[in-house]
Amino acid sequence: MATDPKKDLIRILQNAHAGEVAAAYAYRGHWKSLKDSPEKTRIREIEAEEWDHRRRVGEWLEKLNAKPRPLREKVFWTIGRTLGATCFLSGWFMPMYFAGRLESQNSLEYEDAAAFAYELEMHDCVEDLLDMARVEIEHEVFFHETVAGHRLLPIMSRVFGWS
Ligand SMILES: [Fe+2]
Ligand SMILES: [Fe+2]
Repeated sequence: MATDPKKDLIRILQNAHAGEVAAAYAYRGHWKSLKDSPEKTRIREIEAEEWDHRRRVGEWLEKLNAKPRPLREKVFWTIGRTLGATCFLSGWFMPMYFAGRLESQNSLEYEDAAAFAYELEMHDCVEDLLDMARVEIEHEVFFHETVAGHRLLPIMSRVFGWS
């Protein structure tokens, strides 16, 4: 099967563009549900980093003559708003755990995108995507450290495969 790295890159960027809006709103709800603490400050910063990713991904889509997919944007906007709202209800552990798990997937997604950009010889894009992958790993490490030692972690990692 012939592969088309440009199509693949655009698809990942469209997914990431929508994913980042969900992440940003989910984190907004999350930090707003926390009491003043270093955790709250860090998650607020992470929200800002997700908006920054979304802007950068949008710029690469434009350079590739592509656009975000409107339906996907709407679906993920709704997911983010819903998750953000439920952080007030779902307790402390679950949002932290699923954030960490999501971040681990995000970094892989940006690494895959960077490989396609490399095939297209878009070297600035490769660098930018790898920088975003690096930031996602920082996010993952933060959530990993935050949930470490929690009594629910062993069972959750057995079921959902991240710890
Ligand atoms: Fe991000
Ligand atoms: Fe992130």
